[in-house]
Amino acid sequence: MSFPITRLRRLRKTPVIRNMVRETIVNRDDLIMPYFVCPGEGVKNPIDSMPGNYQWSIDLLVKEVKDLYTTTGIDKILLFGIPEEKDEDGSVACSHDAIVPRAIRALKKELPEVMIVADVCNCEYTVHGHCGTVVDGDVNNDLTLKTLAAQSVTLAEAGADIVAPSDMMDGRVGVIRKALDENGFENTPIMAYSAKYASAFYGPFRDAAESAPKFGDRSTYQMDPANSDEALREVEQDIIEGADMVMVKPALSYMDVIQRVKSTFNMPLVAYNVSGEFSMVKAAAQQGWIDEKRIIKEILTSIKRAGADVIITYHAKEFILNSKGEN
Ligand code: PBG
Repeated sequence: MSFPITRLRRLRKTPVIRNMVRETIVNRDDLIMPYFVCPGEGVKNPIDSMPGNYQWSIDLLVKEVKDLYTTTGIDKILLFGIPEEKDEDGSVACSHDAIVPRAIRALKKELPEVMIVADVCNCEYTVHGHCGTVVDGDVNNDLTLKTLAAQSVTLAEAGADIVAPSDMMDGRVGVIRKALDENGFENTPIMAYSAKYASAFYGPFRDAAESAPKFGDRSTYQMDPANSDEALREVEQDIIEGADMVMVKPALSYMDVIQRVKSTFNMPLVAYNVSGEFSMVKAAAQQGWIDEKRIIKEILTSIKRAGADVIITYHAKEFILNSKGEN
């Protein structure tokens, strides 16, 4: 008998064989593309730290999402708002005339088939840039729950298909579920940013959304990057409170957390491939140090392999355009 008997390379011999035994394929349906919407008309402000991403005014955002949908077939977006004015507690976001509700109505009128996930948080809307109402130098949990619930109802009324609280207050999923139900939105799902870490990988996003905290950081509410048992407690609590989907964020430095959450709970799991993860790829690609297309495919495939069912990624559009003709 010849040695070795087991030759794993037999199934790597040709593209046909490799395609046949491939375990993980990222599909268009797995992807959500994030967008930033701002006031004005005809505005398409490049975000320097996130090449290819812009702050869009509503009129141009509608055109862009139409382009996304027709060129790639991606039919899921996540919306963040840059408001005209900010206030102390983020209640500007609870008005029907706030930037995101207006954008949702415009998008739904033109593109009813595109699913809109609305991020629920106060950091883009407060003068201090924290995710809630500040009392004595720290975000007050229970006061913040009120604005989060009101913001969620406003977004649902505007036509958001899913609300996604990203604030990390305790009890917010329960309070939002109750508020949605009381207002006739018992069928609006909650995608909870459950294990959201206090991460340096959000840096470019804070430029894009103009939401960097003016003092301190977010470590009294977002999770310590060192913890993963705690992530399971966060996810468990959100499930108890009524979350329909749970999220791990960021993705790449938290693959172990993605895998633990997926193997512990039978829940649809979302992973957020965040701004800093995106920008590092872009920066290296601009230098010519990496093969960008291959890197993007490898990153998204490994996030799915780790256990994510859905991936929020700024690469969504380019990934599908890059892979045209491959399958
Ligand atoms: C709002 C929010 C943030 C992100 C998504 N929702 C920023 C933060 O928590 O500071 C980050 C997304 C990204 O970096 O791509 N709280």
